[in-house]
Amino acid sequence: MGDLNDSRWMAAACALSERARGRTAPNPNVGCVIVSKGRVVGRGWTQPGGRPHAEAAALAQAGEKSRGATVYVTLEPCAHQSDRGPACSDLLIAAGVARVVIALEDPDPRTNGAGAARLREAGIEVTERVGTPAARQAMAGFLTRQAKGRPHVTLKLATSLDGRIALASGESRWITGAAARAHAHLERARHESILVGRGTWDMDSPALDVRLRGLEARSPRRLVLSASGEVRSPGDIAHLEGDHLLVEGGAETAASFLRAGLIDRLLLYRAPILIGSGKAALGDIGMGSLAEAHGRWRLTDERQLGSDRLEVYAAQ
Ligand SMILES: NC(=O)c1ccc[n+]([C@@H]2O[C@H](COP(=O)([O-])OP(=O)(O)OC[C@H]3O[C@@H](n4cnc5c(N)ncnc54)[C@H](OP(=O)(O)O)[C@@H]3O)[C@@H](O)[C@H]2O)c1
Repeated sequence: MGDLNDSRWMAAACALSERARGRTAPNPNVGCVIVSKGRVVGRGWTQPGGRPHAEAAALAQAGEKSRGATVYVTLEPCAHQSDRGPACSDLLIAAGVARVVIALEDPDPRTNGAGAARLREAGIEVTERVGTPAARQAMAGFLTRQAKGRPHVTLKLATSLDGRIALASGESRWITGAAARAHAHLERARHESILVGRGTWDMDSPALDVRLRGLEARSPRRLVLSASGEVRSPGDIAHLEGDHLLVEGGAETAASFLRAGLIDRLLLYRAPILIGSGKAALGDIGMGSLAEAHGRWRLTDERQLGSDRLEVYAAQ
């Protein structure tokens, strides 16, 4: 375990790792900060397509200043050489760094402890498990793919106070205000794929793109769930390219994913309006008792977005 300064530098590395989210699969989106005499001398994050790795990018920036420095990295440096580049643990040894602080062990069997061991064998001080929760969040896509063989799935719901996603007529534009919708677009930019049910596709003809200046190119790949379509069941998502999928409803689709136990994160935007008899946020999710319903979701973030409330939950 590291000290308070270690936690702060690792938080900076996690923020850099977030920059690469959704652009590096099948490689992890790693962040790296190199600190010498209390100053940042190198910063790096995994580049689009997965190379260069974060450590290589940060070392290139630091140059000679990496000698004797401390390296903060969100994932254990890799121990395996590939035809696309050298192992990061070897690069760190060659650069002469004094200490490496790691948030998470790499679950990839080609590294999985071997990177940290190689650094220690070379006389480098290694501190592990610093800033682990934030690193887990930043690299959730990679970690879910490694553990479950599928992307990390977020369900977005925009509801009224009484849990409706549309009027009885089907009208749902707009339930939330501009700030909440802009936030939802930022979330789109952090996912490789976005999915709606055929009902929503037919009724709303949603563009499902990112309409934020400067982030237009980050629009995710659009998918429609339909028994007669390209994605025929929630289970098909294991075959998707990319490690992050955003499900944007509607009610039947959201329920299908929940029933299948495939939602890892819930984004709930709630507007201060009442709709009454309208469309409920979810269809049947197979809950037999309240005891079963409790203890499944943990609040991880909440904030006010204009007049709307955002709550983020992680599946337990
Ligand atoms: N406020 C919000 O956040 C929000 C977001 C999205 C939508 N909405 C609203 O929600 C309403 C639409 O919701 P909805 O529940 O009627 O429709 P939906 O969930 O968008 O689409 C239903 C269709 O999805 C496909 N589907 C669902 N589960 C499936 C499964 N397990 N396997 C294969 N296909 C599956 C089926 O297509 P096939 O019949 O082709 O097989 C089904 O007919 C609209 O009023 C829309 O405006 C609100």
